[in-house]
Amino acid sequence: MEEQIQISMPRIGDNAPAFKAVTTQGEINFPQDYRGEWVILFSHPADFTPVCTSEFMTFASMEEKFNQANCKLVGLSVDGLYSHIAWLRTIKEKIEYKGMKEIEVKFPLIEDITMEVSKKYGMIQPGESSTKAVRAVFFIDPKGIIRTIIYYPLSLGRNFEELYRVLIALQTADAFSIATPADWQPGDDVIVPPAGSCGTAKDRMEGKEDMKCYDWFFCTKPIEKEKVFSTILKK
Ligand code: BEZ
Repeated sequence: MEEQIQISMPRIGDNAPAFKAVTTQGEINFPQDYRGEWVILFSHPADFTPVCTSEFMTFASMEEKFNQANCKLVGLSVDGLYSHIAWLRTIKEKIEYKGMKEIEVKFPLIEDITMEVSKKYGMIQPGESSTKAVRAVFFIDPKGIIRTIIYYPLSLGRNFEELYRVLIALQTADAFSIATPADWQPGDDVIVPPAGSCGTAKDRMEGKEDMKCYDWFFCTKPIEKEKVFSTILKK
């Protein structure tokens, strides 16, 4: 009979499940070690595989940009520490891809041979694979709350500009008490106020502040890109 894997699926708004783990940068106590900072916890299926290699090179080359937005990166796969170390060394010493070369992965990569962490985070999805983690992405805020979860299958490499957009949109929503519309990019109009805290229709239609109302339930206002980034990014 096929072995049943006990998997929990954390949800948006939950406390990030706690764990201690060994990583390529030493031991971590998660999410405790990241209090006061955003953290993106992400999994990949396996070391020494092509899609994962392209992803690690891309994410590592953008790490400084995420750090500037007060966000740390933490990776995970069900491989062991020595495999992680050998793979990251190969990436640095041998792989040149899309203009990226000598890429050093400085963020921690968790070893999870027991699958303890990946099962806690719903990263093992047996319909896709029961021996490899899917490409999961958890955005965790400075209080340790899960704010966004995105899953991709094994065959699909992630869009890291989109992950950066999500991070900036979450921080902008928090900082300005607004919501962000479809395809929002910093500098685009934002939605005000967020759903569930509406002012009166009259206030909105009278053109309060700098608002543009498409109807009583749908108003936007501008926030300049410079204001978004000067509020969010580290000085
Ligand atoms: C890859 O990263 O290339 C990969 C890993 C597992 C399954 C399929 C592709």
